[in-house]
Amino acid sequence: MKKQIKKIAFLTSGGDAPGMNAVIRAIVRSCVYNGIIPIAVHKGYEGLINGSFEEMNARSVKGIINKGGTIIKTARSSEFRTKSGRKKAYNNLIDHSIDGLIVVGGDGTFNGAYIFNKEFKFPVIGIPATIDNDIFGTSHTIGFDSALNTVVEAIDKIRDTASSHNRLFFIEVMGRDAGHIALNTGVAAGAEEILIPEENLGLKRLIKSLKRSKNTGKSSSIVVVAEGDKTGKNVFELKDYVDKHLPEYEVRVSVLGHIQRGGAPSCFDRVLASRMGVSSVDSLLKTKSNVMVGIKNNKIFLTPLIDAVKGKSKINSELLKISDIMSI
Ligand code: F6P
Repeated sequence: MKKQIKKIAFLTSGGDAPGMNAVIRAIVRSCVYNGIIPIAVHKGYEGLINGSFEEMNARSVKGIINKGGTIIKTARSSEFRTKSGRKKAYNNLIDHSIDGLIVVGGDGTFNGAYIFNKEFKFPVIGIPATIDNDIFGTSHTIGFDSALNTVVEAIDKIRDTASSHNRLFFIEVMGRDAGHIALNTGVAAGAEEILIPEENLGLKRLIKSLKRSKNTGKSSSIVVVAEGDKTGKNVFELKDYVDKHLPEYEVRVSVLGHIQRGGAPSCFDRVLASRMGVSSVDSLLKTKSNVMVGIKNNKIFLTPLIDAVKGKSKINSELLKISDIMSI
């Protein structure tokens, strides 16, 4: 007979993302609704190792659905990458009589959860929350939509000053390994070029395209560059390159940085986080484990954690084409 679930622990790990608080709220309230005690683990896997646990109730999560960041803190834990660290975490979960664990984060978080489950057979469920949207098994991660809105707002403002001065701006956005933020915001903000890690079209094409822009009468230009772009040059080097090859351009650089991770979650992210949080508790109650909660065609579904870790989320090739057409 399967063990009845009485206590569920949950944590946020890796880079924070808008909507993490909304998912914490959903997990806690869903636990309470089902007569389960919710236990928050502070600071990701570090808190699991140090035994930094806090029992919550429905009121512990009041007034947080609209707040950015994560009230239970997050971290990237190097100790959890060691077997001895994971053993300490397991002992703490057993000592606190916890029956299941929900981890909220990105691929690093899921990799840790997958290994942990393999070693100790402890029930785990993953919820994808990262602004990068680079997780296989879900069309959207929590935080992606909010970050897109933040970036588009910033680029619109930069466009005002760019066109007032007839300047070219290289704008760096987050996305260490993925170009989803760059591609979506580039299309939404009318960028002339979008440089992403998934598709290296080379510097020659960039120069050609910028020349064409000038010749066809464009007075200002925006190039959105993903942090992990593979042209081999960062935004400042790109500026130097254009300064050298197209001196007629006046070039500036803007690195948007961590503002992309902050701020209130969008309506989409709040709803997504609520759905995923509830589904994660339901899944544990149905004795599911070692899976990630995802969304596809607006339906919640589960993907094995190993696939979420090993699979690659695909870039939207339709958007690449649209960006080419729009920038003529
Ligand atoms: O959350 C993912 C991410 O935003 C990446 O795009 C970026 O490279 C990284 O986090 C930055 O992380 P940190 O805040 O640890 O420097």
